[in-house]
Amino acid sequence: MKIPSRCTKSLGIETPIIQAPMAGGTTTPELVAEVSNAGGLGSLGAGYMAPAALDDAIDDIRSLTERPFAVNLFVPRPPTEDAERVERSNTRLDIFRGELGIERPVPPERYAPSFEAQFEAVVMARVPVFSFTFGALDVTQVERLKDAGSGVIGTATTVAEAVALEKTGVDMIVAQGSDAGGHRGTFLHPFEQALIGTMSLVPQVADAVTVPVIASGGIMDGRGVAAAFMLGASAVQMGSAFLLCQESGANPAHQRALLDEGAVDTTVTRAFSGKPARGIRNRFITDMADLESTLPDYPIQNAWTKDVRAAASKQRQPEFMSLWAGQAARLGRQTTARQLVADIRDYLRSV
Ligand SMILES: Cc1cc2nc3c(=O)[nH]c(=O)nc-3n(C[C@H](O)[C@H](O)[C@H](O)COP(=O)(O)O)c2cc1C
Repeated sequence: MKIPSRCTKSLGIETPIIQAPMAGGTTTPELVAEVSNAGGLGSLGAGYMAPAALDDAIDDIRSLTERPFAVNLFVPRPPTEDAERVERSNTRLDIFRGELGIERPVPPERYAPSFEAQFEAVVMARVPVFSFTFGALDVTQVERLKDAGSGVIGTATTVAEAVALEKTGVDMIVAQGSDAGGHRGTFLHPFEQALIGTMSLVPQVADAVTVPVIASGGIMDGRGVAAAFMLGASAVQMGSAFLLCQESGANPAHQRALLDEGAVDTTVTRAFSGKPARGIRNRFITDMADLESTLPDYPIQNAWTKDVRAAASKQRQPEFMSLWAGQAARLGRQTTARQLVADIRDYLRSV
């Protein structure tokens, strides 16, 4: 099939496959660089990184590739502090802490790294591509990135969000379907009103904006990529498929869960972070389910569940880990980033 060239030309890459940014250590510099070296665009999920760590990771990527890569941040929305909600959630978390053999930690000094400081670090680093989710940047921020030589990619989960992002001057828009693994990028609507599948969302966004559209959510192999192109996308952004790659930093227990039959049972939950995200249903999600509507906002809940998630990861205890995965994750297979990109390219050439 004819491979669309709008994104490849503008990003300076060969194949319109973007390895999704996946904050929390999954998108190692090795994974990012390997995808870029294979002709796609690797992305560093830097949403949880302090500026110094971000700088180091960017240096590491640059030492591994001369090709373009992306860095991704979370656009913040100030949370409402509610001590009662925090206590209610913590009382439930204490049960998990007991099982994991840890104590409730002291309150965190801050709930998340400063976005302003992260943003300055990225502008100073003059990264080839900057992508973001959870909100919109203002026009001045987009201009600063462009002046620094960075291509700018925003994330939309509805047509209205895509139109709003285009008005800020972004170069491209990720259309994130409800099938997608990880956090919902929704910022203009209650999340329940923005659960539109990739197949429905992509053509509507492609009709509504003039900038290139990047399809994301449930795309695992060449078939999904070809379908996305037919729907009007100029590139794809794939997360779950790259979680299983050798270079990924995903916890082995997470990778095992993805390969299990149970990976078909994903759900959207606020339990881990306070923000809706899609992952494999486990005990943490079901035991927190009755608190869903009264949990602290993101990133407060995220900060308070950190000790539980960290202990569970260390103990390889998947029932208390955030096992982010898209609805098609079961199609994933263990491979290398280079092979995954090459297989998709071969498939596209064959159809
Ligand atoms: C483990 C994981 C972490 C993610 N973290 C981020 C992130 O930091 N920033 C972001 O823009 N998207 C993030 N996403 C969402 C991806 O960008 C993308 O929309 C999603 O993976 C597409 O669905 P798929 O997993 O079915 O390919 C994450 C997804 C996963 C699976």
